[in-house]
Formats: sequence, C-alpha cells, structure tokens
Amino acid sequence: MTVAEIFETMDYGTAPESAAEALAWLVDQGDRFGHFIDGAFTQPGDGFESRNPATGETLATLSQATQADVDNAVKAARKAQKGWENLGGHGRAKYLYALARLLQKHARLFAVLEVLDNGKPIREARDVDIPLAQRHFYYHAGMAQLMDSELPDAEALGVCGQIIPWNFPLLMLAWKVAPALATGNTVVLKPAEYTSLTALLFADICRQAGLPKGVVNIVTGDGAVGEMIVAADVDKIAFTGSTEVGRRIREATAGSGKALTLELGGKSPYIVFDDADLDSAVEGLVDAIWFNQGQVCCAGSRLLVHEPVADMFYAKLRARMDKLRVGSPLDKSIDVGALVDPVQLQSVTEMVGSNTAGQTHVAATDMPQSGCFYPPTLITGLNPADTLMQEEIFGPVLVSTTFRTPAEAVQLANNTRYGLAATVWSENINLALDIAPKLVAGVVWVNGTNLMDAAAGFGGVRESGFGREGGWEGLTAYTRPKGTAKPLKDIQPFTGEGGPLEGVDRTAKLYIGGKQSRPDGGYSAAVWGKNGKLIGHASIANRKDVRNAVEAAQAAKGWSKTTGHLRAQILYYIAENLDARADEFATRLDAMQGGKTGAKEVAASVKRLFTYAAWADKYDGQVHGVPIRGVALAMKEPVGVIGALCPAEAPLLGLVSCMAPAIAMGNRVILSASKPFPLAATDFIQVLETSDVPAGVVNILTGPQSDVAEPMARHMDIDAVWSFGAAELSATVEKGSASNLKRTWVNNGFTRDWSGQEGEGHAFLQAATEVKNIWIPYGE
Ligand code: NAI
Repeated sequence: MTVAEIFETMDYGTAPESAAEALAWLVDQGDRFGHFIDGAFTQPGDGFESRNPATGETLATLSQATQADVDNAVKAARKAQKGWENLGGHGRAKYLYALARLLQKHARLFAVLEVLDNGKPIREARDVDIPLAQRHFYYHAGMAQLMDSELPDAEALGVCGQIIPWNFPLLMLAWKVAPALATGNTVVLKPAEYTSLTALLFADICRQAGLPKGVVNIVTGDGAVGEMIVAADVDKIAFTGSTEVGRRIREATAGSGKALTLELGGKSPYIVFDDADLDSAVEGLVDAIWFNQGQVCCAGSRLLVHEPVADMFYAKLRARMDKLRVGSPLDKSIDVGALVDPVQLQSVTEMVGSNTAGQTHVAATDMPQSGCFYPPTLITGLNPADTLMQEEIFGPVLVSTTFRTPAEAVQLANNTRYGLAATVWSENINLALDIAPKLVAGVVWVNGTNLMDAAAGFGGVRESGFGREGGWEGLTAYTRPKGTAKPLKDIQPFTGEGGPLEGVDRTAKLYIGGKQSRPDGGYSAAVWGKNGKLIGHASIANRKDVRNAVEAAQAAKGWSKTTGHLRAQILYYIAENLDARADEFATRLDAMQGGKTGAKEVAASVKRLFTYAAWADKYDGQVHGVPIRGVALAMKEPVGVIGALCPAEAPLLGLVSCMAPAIAMGNRVILSASKPFPLAATDFIQVLETSDVPAGVVNILTGPQSDVAEPMARHMDIDAVWSFGAAELSATVEKGSASNLKRTWVNNGFTRDWSGQEGEGHAFLQAATEVKNIWIPYGE
C-alpha cells in the first residue's frame, strides 16, 4: 500500500508486538511447569495445557497440584513465616522493592506473556496490567516500611491461601501477594487454570530477588486445587472470582477461624445524565465495558441513560462501537482481543443468544475468522428485571435502559444483588455528588471509569463480597492484633426452684421498633440469681421476632442520614440516663451474676457510651493521593442493619459495646442480649426509651441466641452479623451469611476483655463502617 492509498482509506496498519522473547522464555523452561514450592520449581506432574485463546495454540503444559503438593506448599509457607515476619518492616520493604524493580525491568516480557495466555490487547497489558502490578509492589514496599511505626499493635495473620481469577492474572497476583508479604505473611497462591504463566514468571522473579524460600509458593490447577487450599492449614483465604465460588468458600471456611476476604462479581451501573459531556461518556464506555473484553468484575456493564439524550447517546455509542477494532491481541492498534477460553466464549454466546428482549446492536467491525472472539454488543430497551440486566455476562456486552429523574437513576442503579462499582457522568458537580453517596457500591467514579490504584481500597458490598484490597483498609485484612486470645468460658445461667418473685410479677418484653412487644412464640424463661432466687422472667425471641426487628430496623433508614453530631448527642443522653440509674443497674447486675462487680460494669458502660459519642463525629474518611489529577475520597458509610449476638459474660457492658459503635456510625442494630443474664438488657430498654433514640434504631431480643443466630445470619435484609456469643455460634453465623454474603465478625470461641481496650476502639468502628471510594477527577 502506498502512502497516498493509506491517506485515502485512513485504515489502520498492523503494529504487531513480537512474541519471540516470551515464547523463548517458555522454551527455556522446557514448556512444562511444575509448582513453585519452597523456593524451587517441582518436577512437572500430570496436568493440562495452557492455550493462547486468540489462536488456540498450546503455550505450555501445567501441572495439576495434588494434595501432597498443596500440603508441601503450605508447610513451606508455615516454616518460612516467622523468619519473614521477623525481618521487620524495613527488611521486607527491601524485598518488595526488589520485586517491583524486577517487574519493571521485565515489563515487556510480562506484558507479552499475559497477552499470549489471556488474549487481552497488548495495549492494555502494557499500559494497565503490568504498570499497576508494579505500582502495587512499590506501594506495599512503603507499607512494609511503615508498618512498625504505624501499626505497632498489629501482626501478620500467618499463612495466606490466595486464589485468583484469569481476567487480570498478574495484577490480581500483585493485589494479593504484595499486602500479604508487606505485613509479614507468607502465601500459597493459585492462579486460574487458564492463565498461570505470568504467575510462574513471577516465581522466577522471586528467585531473582533472592526472596527467602517458602515466602511465596505457587501451585497450579483448577478449582479442585482451590478447594484443597481452602481446606488447608492456612490462616486466611483471599479470593477473587465468581460469586458462586465465593459463596462456597464462605460456607467451607465457616467456623474454621480462617480470615476471609471475597472480591466477587458485579453488574455495575454506568449512569449518564443529560448534562454529561456525551462524547466523553461514550469514550468512558469503551473503557468500562470493552476494556479487557468486558471480563472485568467492576465493568460498567449496565448503562442507564437519561431519557432526553438517550437517542442521541445511543447513536454516538453505536458509531463508536462500529469503529472498535477486534483482532490479534498482539497488534498494538487493536481495541478488543480474545475472550479467555472457549468455555467463556460459549457462556457469553449462550447468555446473549437466550435473550429475546430489547434491541441488539452488534458492532459492524471485521471479526477474526477463528479464535475466542466476540463482537462488541449493545442491547438497549431492556427492563430492569430482564435476565441480562441482572446477571453478570462477563463479556463485551453492554445492556441498557433509560431513566427520567435522578431518583429513578439511583433506584435502577441499586436494583441489583451486587454492589461493586458505579459510574456517574454529569457536568453538574452538585448532581454527581448528590448521587454518589446514594449508590450502593464500594467504588464510585465521577466522569471517569475503571480507575484503580494501590492507594485506594477496592472492593464491594452485598453479593460483590467483602473486604477491601489496597490502601490502609486493605492492609488490616492481612493483620490481627498482637497478643494471645483467651478462650471463651461457657457461662451457664443459674438455676433455682419455685419461689414467688418479690414484688409485682413482670415479664420483660422484647424491644422492637421502639415498642416493648411480646415475643411471637409467647414463651418466656425464668431468670434465677446465684443464690437460686427467682429474679424475673425474660421473653424468648424466635425467628419471627427477628423478622419483625429487621423490618423495624429497615424502616429506621433515616438514622443513617443523621449527622455525627446528632448521634453523639443521643449517645451522651443515653449515658446520662444510664448514669442516673446507676445504682439500680448495679444491683440488678449483682443479683443476676452474683458478686459485686455491678457498679464497675455500669460505670464502664457509661464511659463506653462517652467513647462512641466522641467518635460519632470524628471517625473521618480520607482523601487518597491517587496518581491522577484529582482525588479519591474514602468515605466512611454505615454498613446498614447489623445483628449482634452480645457476649454472655458482660451483660450490660457487652450490649453497650456492640450497640454504641454501631449506632454512632449510623447503623441500626438488632441486639441479642446475654443469654444467661438478660435482664440488664431489658432494663436498658427503659433507658433507650427516655433518650430520644428513634424507633427501630436499636432493637433488643432476649432468649437463647442459638434460636436467633441462624435467622439473623440468613436474613437478606441484614448487612452484617457480629457474634460474641457461644463458640459454636461463630460457625452458624458464618455459614448462614453465605446467603447474601453479608459481613461477619465472630469470636471463634475466644473472649476479649470487655472492660479494657479490647472492648472498644478501631476494630469496632471498622466493623461498623464500609469505605466507599469516590473518584473525582479535577477536570481538564
Ligand atoms: P471461578 O470463580 O470459578 O474461578 C476463579 C478462581 O477460583 C480460579 O482460580 C478457579 O480455579 C478457582 N476455583 C474454582 N472453583 C473453586 C472452588 N470450589 N474452591 C476454590 N477455588 C475455586 O470463575 P470462572 O468459572 O473461571 O468464571 C465464571 C464466571 O465467574 C465468569 O463468567 C464471571 O462471571 C465470574 N468471574 C468473576 C471474576 C471477578 O473478577 N469478579 C473473575 C473471574 C470470573
């Protein structure tokens, strides 16, 4: 073609990247890989082939890890852990820095290998995946350096099992490995079976960096190997992948004491208002849904367009789609590469094929004749309940509907079981900043999309999982407080016989929706003192009472919008009213528990209420200095409705220690009182009633916690459950929470000193808040 002809057609030429180096590296390794365990590659075993999805060619043969491989990897990680942690922050920082430098030095090799293995365009691997992976190691080298001074009370969890997906193979590895290593953990990581090659190249880099043996171990294989890691002797599982597998892992780890973070799927809304810069919003969509062929957990896959501009916007979007270039991922002028595997291609094809709703536009672009390619697709005119509006397609397929008002946009955006990310386009900053806090998502981008950085936590709510990766909040997921936890004592209620109650008989009721109400089942139980004397009766709550309490708590949504100042005033008022009745509460506590600790417990409860009144307007968010011209606002938001099984051992202080941080941060709570000593909680109802606490903000149930633990854990309208009750309830709560993947915080059979520092502070505030990162570019 002559230059004149090129000017005539304005066609792109090809700009292929050479695969020679990457292929040579594979040949150097003998094209067959074992696992990376204890600092060395094992002999290759029985396995499977890793293919290039763009061409179908086999790249290498990988080993399917056996139980013995996983055991060896965990053993090596365990052996290495203390030594690694004891290197200290600076010692570890030097290794993380070396890893970052090596990733940078071999950036092209990593990028090309990723393209061959995954099918993503080289432009993306080169400009996004690999630089972000490097950034993660640099950032966490800094975190390791600062750990000793900034987190002096934290220590590593131990050995972390990490299971990652195939959409960003090296980047997801970096997200998992860097914070774990920075905080002194060692890891056993399993890459996804379709895309293990860059993880194996990373193993090579670990050797080059001289990383101590056993600190990083990599085993390859499919979901069966993932299950082995989940079941192994590890202290934490960090998982990114499908909601279905995340749910299974939640169930499998329930009650095991293993920490867990889940970063799962999404169906993230992309909202375009009529005053948006429409051309920019169209360009944003290219990054939202056609980036990485739409195989992105936070892809802006659900387009919501303001009705007045919908036709114009769709026209612009179709025109842009038609210009997207689909083809060889190694070609630098390609926009859309191959899906990861024929299985994924089939899944996308079937999902779109089974849809009969709306109008489908398939990009009028040349398609390669073979390979796992799928054309950019737009389906407009869908109803919110249509399958494709609700289910994650995980391919280059955008679905859309329109809205009329900002309120309707929010309603549609939140009409999903997921809550990972959201995008808002508007030139009106007031509108954008009004909408962003109302979106149920862990990340919100304003006039931009798919922005990520190591300094800003990433993660979701609802069925998109829990926990954050990146930033300070990501670090805490890899640490625990220093010190040895004490086992929980089994505290049984006192028993007695007959004997009338002194004074007028009164059966304490439940407290639901601001009213004292009789238990649904109509049963109550006697409460005996240490001396066998009858001191009262308490209601027995059942699952219906849990449901009523949830309804009341949901109706009290207004609480979450109140100011910290107002919440502080109410907490002070509760403290004031409790203090006014201190003697009465002390007498009651002593009568229930025996001994003479009541007065101290009341005083500690008043103090605790003051603590959280103080925090109510001081637990601030952050402004992250992300590397864009703009900011990421890390906003602290309430979790929503929290169910708490209060500790048996501190009937008043334990109840206050759960309630106060939760309501201080704007949550509504359902408290299941101390099972053996319920009457302090029911007396406390009167304190609440005189303290201006709005109806439904605090709900109190009594009776066996085992009756309410499961209904709470399974309830779809409860957002988190804390279990400080009997040891066995930890498993019940964690297992049940898999229903809507709510957050849990359980004691795993250990107690805490409720009267001391362990009974209050940052851990409680963190559990009572979600961090939403709102990215706001500064404009031009
Ligand atoms: P997946 O969730 O099955 O795979 C992710 C990782 O989990 C892989 O390493 C896999 O080997 C491992 N795994 C599979 N079963 C396991 C088990 N029972 N226990 C422990 N580990 C297990 O995802 P898959 O099947 O590859 O993709 C299916 C769908 O999942 C996609 O179409 C997409 O909707 C979603 N997905 C979401 C991702 C995200 O980033 N949120 C990433 C990958 C997939």
